[in-house]
Order: sequence, then structure tokens, then C-alpha cells
Amino acid sequence: MLQKKEAETARRDALDISGLSLAVSRSGTDVPLLAGVSVRVARGETVGLVGESGSGKSLTSRSALGMLPRGARTTGGVTVSGVDVLGADRRTLRELRRTRVSMIFQDPRASINPVRRVGDYLTEGLRARGVSSREAAERAPDLLDQVGIRDPRGALRRFPHEFSGGMLQRVMIAGALSTEPELLLADEPTTALDVTTQAEVVGLLKTMQEAHGTGMLFVTHDLDLAAAICDRIYVMYAGRIVEEATGASLFRSPAHPYTRALLEASPSVHGEKAVVKAIRGRPLALAEAPSGCSFRDRCPLAEESCAEGVPPYRAHGASTVACLRPEEVAP
Ligand SMILES: Nc1ncnc2c1ncn2[C@@H]1O[C@H](COP(=O)(O)OP(=O)(O)OP(=O)(O)O)[C@@H](O)[C@H]1O
Ligand SMILES: [Mg+2]
Repeated sequence: MLQKKEAETARRDALDISGLSLAVSRSGTDVPLLAGVSVRVARGETVGLVGESGSGKSLTSRSALGMLPRGARTTGGVTVSGVDVLGADRRTLRELRRTRVSMIFQDPRASINPVRRVGDYLTEGLRARGVSSREAAERAPDLLDQVGIRDPRGALRRFPHEFSGGMLQRVMIAGALSTEPELLLADEPTTALDVTTQAEVVGLLKTMQEAHGTGMLFVTHDLDLAAAICDRIYVMYAGRIVEEATGASLFRSPAHPYTRALLEASPSVHGEKAVVKAIRGRPLALAEAPSGCSFRDRCPLAEESCAEGVPPYRAHGASTVACLRPEEVAP
């Protein structure tokens, strides 16, 4: 009975990363990159993964596609719609990438062939997923229409360089959602765009994702943006998840000093003037982080006890947090 229930839960989750640790070997030494990362995305849910550069966001999201660094050793598990990604053979992985998971990257120009027409890009994507050429050609204009591209038939004949960055990212979104995947990985999808275009693209992504019931893992360093669009958010620091909470509660009452510092470092304009406080020190990779709490060198609340071991997760308010004294983290 319990097994059946667990199987049903696994099916409902678009993504379940469970206790994922990952290390590579460089010049004969072990370099740990992720430690005990657990991230869950239910179908239809929007989940944020935030943290400074190098915290492990891309490594985590790419693990859902089975794209790991060369020679990586892992413990823990990654399942997408119940399929074991880390144990999958090449054929299963290919099938998974074709049908169940799509990814949108930061720079659309880097991930689309510049010498092929946009129409070919879209129809090839559909055909790779088993749609006939005739049906693919029929569906392509609708796909572009849905993402707000005017004159879709004309657009299909154009080349990527004839589109602005924002318009090209719309094309990528159309392609990524054309197969109605269960999981969409969006790794900094708007970082290369100006603010207005960013808002339009994020709005479109949300609308499309909700319409298809797709689970989305939204990777960004922008906590304000994540809080605005995500149901839940994971905060990452030095290869670990340090806090998880709903978007609203994380914004209102952060429980980890790092989350609070990230909020203070973002140029939000809620008050009369934006006050931006940079986080002291620089972000660290897991391999160079101190023992105990990785953030303690930069933390204004750090005490000796913070060096004694990695803080275990505990519930505090609406958060699950890896900090010994979250009650001292005032909002
Ligand atoms: N293939 C690899 N081999 C060795 N180290 C790697 C590899 N890929 C990433 N890393 C290291 O792992 C850490 C996390 O990298 P990752 O790309 O996941 O960071 P990120 O949070 O996505 O950062 P950014 O915001 O800059 O994109 C970094 O220290 C990076 O140098
Ligand atoms: Mg990244």
C-alpha cells in the first residue's frame, strides 16, 4: 500500500533530486561540487533555484538531463517523472530529453544554429519527437503565434540574426514547450535581456507553463524575480541548499543569513530609494568553503559553534533552513 502511494507520489513529481552529491577528480584530487542537494518540482509547479555565481545552480539543473561534468561521481538520486536519470542508459536519456524535459538557456543565440532558418529549428525539434513532417510544418506557425510573434509564417523563413534577443528567446520557448514536456529547466532565461523584455518573456513563460501543466525549475541569481513568479524557492550556497520556502515567505521573513543578505543585495525599489548592501567577501565553491557552515566566513551572525559541523535542516516559520540560529535573522 505504502509502496503504491510512493509510486504515485513519484509519478506526480516532475523532478525529484534527492540528496545529490557530486564530485569530480582533478589532478588526482577529489573536488566536491554538490553536497546533499534535494530539489523537488511537482507538475505544474514553478520552483526557483537562486544563489550567487558558482553556487551550483546550473550543475543541479543539468543533472535533471543527466548532463554531468566529465568523470563525475555521484551519490543520491535524480528522477524525472519517475525515471531514474542517473542510472539511465543513453537511449533512455535521449528519449527523456526528447519527450519529457526541455531546457531554455541564458543566451538564445548560443543554443540555436545561426545558419538554419527558425522554421527548420522548430520543425526539426518536433520531428525529433516523432511528429510527421507535414504535421510539424502545420504546427510551427501556431507555435510562434502562441508566443506572440507577429507574422509567424514570415518569421519561420527568417534566420536567428534577424530576431532581437527577446524575440529569439520567444522562439526558444515555443520550441521548448512544443512537446508539452513535464519539466522545463529555465537556466537564467532572461539574464541576457533588457528589463522590459525580461518581464515580457517571464510573463510568457509563466502563461505557457501554466497552460501545459509543466513543472518549471527557474534558475536565477535574482531573488526578487524568483519571489515574484515562484511557488517555492530553494536558496543555494557553495554547492548546498541552505533554505527552502514559499516565494512570499522567503521574501517577507528569510530564515538564513545568506538569504537575507541576498535580499539586501538586490536593488529592489520598495522604499523611497533603493539601498543595496553588497554581501561581504566573495562567493565560495564547495571545495574551498570552510568546515561547518559554508557561509560562516561571510556571516554577520557566525559564532564558534558554526564551525562544528554542517548545520542540519530544521523547520523555522515557513522555511526549512540549514542554520543554527534562524531566530536571529530578522527580516
Ligand atoms: N565540469 C566541471 N568541472 C569542474 N568544476 C565545475 C564543472 N562545472 C562546474 N564546475 C564548478 O562547480 C561550481 C558550480 O558551478 P555552476 O555552473 O553550477 O554554478 P552556477 O550557480 O550555475 O553559477 P552562475 O550563476 O555563474 O551560472 C563552480 O565552482 C564551477 O566552477
Ligand atoms: Mg549557471
